Amino acid sequence: MKKLLVTAALPYSNGRLHVGHIAGCYLPADIYVRYQRLIGREVKFVCGSDDHGVAIVLTSEKEGRTPQETARHYHDLQEADFRGLGISFDTFSSTSQNPCHAPRSQDFFLRLHEQGFFEKHSSRQFYDEEREMFLPDRFVTGTCSFCGAVDQNGDQCENCGKVLDVDTLRDAVSVVSGEPATVRETVHWFLDLGRFEEKVEQWFQSAFLRDQTRAFLRGLLGSGLVKRSMTRDLSWGIPVPLKEKDAEGKVLYVWFDAPIGYISNTEELLGSGEAGESFEQWWKSDDAEILHFIGEDNTIFHCLIWIAMLSAEGSYQLPAGVVVNQFLNIQFQDEEEEQKISKSRGTAVWIGDYLEEGGDPDVLRYYLTTIAPEKARTVYKPEDLLQKNNADLANTLGNFVNRVVSFSRKYYGPEVPACDDASFDDIDQAFAAHRERVGAAVSAKLDAHEYRAALEEVMEFARAGNRYIDEKAPWKTRKEDEATTKRTLVLCMRAIHTIAVLLQPFLPQKSGEMLALLWPEQASGEGRVEKPWSEQLNAPPSGSPLGEPVILFQKKELNAE
Ligand code: 2FM
Ligand code: ZN
Repeated sequence: MKKLLVTAALPYSNGRLHVGHIAGCYLPADIYVRYQRLIGREVKFVCGSDDHGVAIVLTSEKEGRTPQETARHYHDLQEADFRGLGISFDTFSSTSQNPCHAPRSQDFFLRLHEQGFFEKHSSRQFYDEEREMFLPDRFVTGTCSFCGAVDQNGDQCENCGKVLDVDTLRDAVSVVSGEPATVRETVHWFLDLGRFEEKVEQWFQSAFLRDQTRAFLRGLLGSGLVKRSMTRDLSWGIPVPLKEKDAEGKVLYVWFDAPIGYISNTEELLGSGEAGESFEQWWKSDDAEILHFIGEDNTIFHCLIWIAMLSAEGSYQLPAGVVVNQFLNIQFQDEEEEQKISKSRGTAVWIGDYLEEGGDPDVLRYYLTTIAPEKARTVYKPEDLLQKNNADLANTLGNFVNRVVSFSRKYYGPEVPACDDASFDDIDQAFAAHRERVGAAVSAKLDAHEYRAALEEVMEFARAGNRYIDEKAPWKTRKEDEATTKRTLVLCMRAIHTIAVLLQPFLPQKSGEMLALLWPEQASGEGRVEKPWSEQLNAPPSGSPLGEPVILFQKKELNAE
């Protein structure tokens, strides 16, 4: 098995994180990473904040900070949000603070320049006459001429995903002054993506991509790749590393330097070889593969531009796949329609607020996985989160664990009772067989990046556990048939143990508590088990100590309609 480098999109450090960010990229990446670690794979999980570009400059102006202060401020808040949710990065760095980042990005630019891949030419860009500045990317908004969506940023239409520029963004207005934008000529360095079409096409044939991502890219590849400017007129960013006059005051396009952040953050984490390990052993070696996790709005940048950039640079390997999630919309209880999660429209559910209000990180992880927008956009409903907490977590899971452990401790003491496996009846056999199957079923779904379905396999098994215990009714058999009663309880305990093992990637804290209850010597620390997944799926033996049951999931009151 090759080593695996997993990246999650570098979030812009100009705001806090909301549930859409988490569902779109960080949670699925974390689930996959935790699973890969459990099956014994050597993994690095790399992320960090994306500090450059217009988004950060605009927030800085609004909030009265310098861009560097803004980047630091939100980087630290985002890091706390990720930690609070148990997102287990090996590094969460920052493109403006990581000392390897600017040199690595400039080196990348120069490698393309030396090979003659840039075309320097004058192009038309939006301009703000009042503020006397060019208006790259998000400094300008207008109407997408492809689909007609209004209020779109100057770089990309959020509605149809198409790239926008002076010719395709209509009625452009400067975000800085609010005045209509004019158009002026300025010199930039362009990468002709068309030159790498064949390389991109080849990569597209073999890389892991979900069906809808594939269909979206197929369309774009079919209509041909264009030239894209890789530099910007902006004072915040990485200077264009060329000595000529035209380069003065220009910086690298944020979408040029941001994905290089995956490399430079690995470099900062592992060093460049002097101390033994090197980032090159991950980025330039056949022993490793790379997998990117992103939200749908990042597709073009990762699956076309980044692949072209890497192909042009030539020394790094291409990613083995890009796992793309669609957007998560939101619908509040008193509203009829779902809407986009948006900070300005006040429709975001913030991770910081959720955690500060005492929200359980694993409950949110659970809910977001059950509505993961893997194939299409899905909807977050605050009421639904409470409902699933109560029905799935508190009732199906929590009560099952509590019932079994309390009952067994009460009548047979604080140890797993003895069980005669030779005397299973048909119901026992069917339930035990389900337990034998469920691990492989969950693995198969996780391998296919179907996290929602993987979690559903575990929950279906938990529901089967509830049906089994109701059918066997140990509270009835206890008086007349001790052997059968113990067998029922032990089969339930084995099931709970299996459920806990399988829930580790999804609910790292709660699964740890469940493991500590069922097989304490196997759980260490916060439920982190060093043993590989396959071995963990063995059941706790008779005689092993049973912990004191705790309330795993608190029921929440539902708001009246
Ligand atoms: O959409 C975003 O939030 C970007 N900052 C993602 C960058 S991903 C990578 F290229 F760094
Ligand atoms: Zn559009």
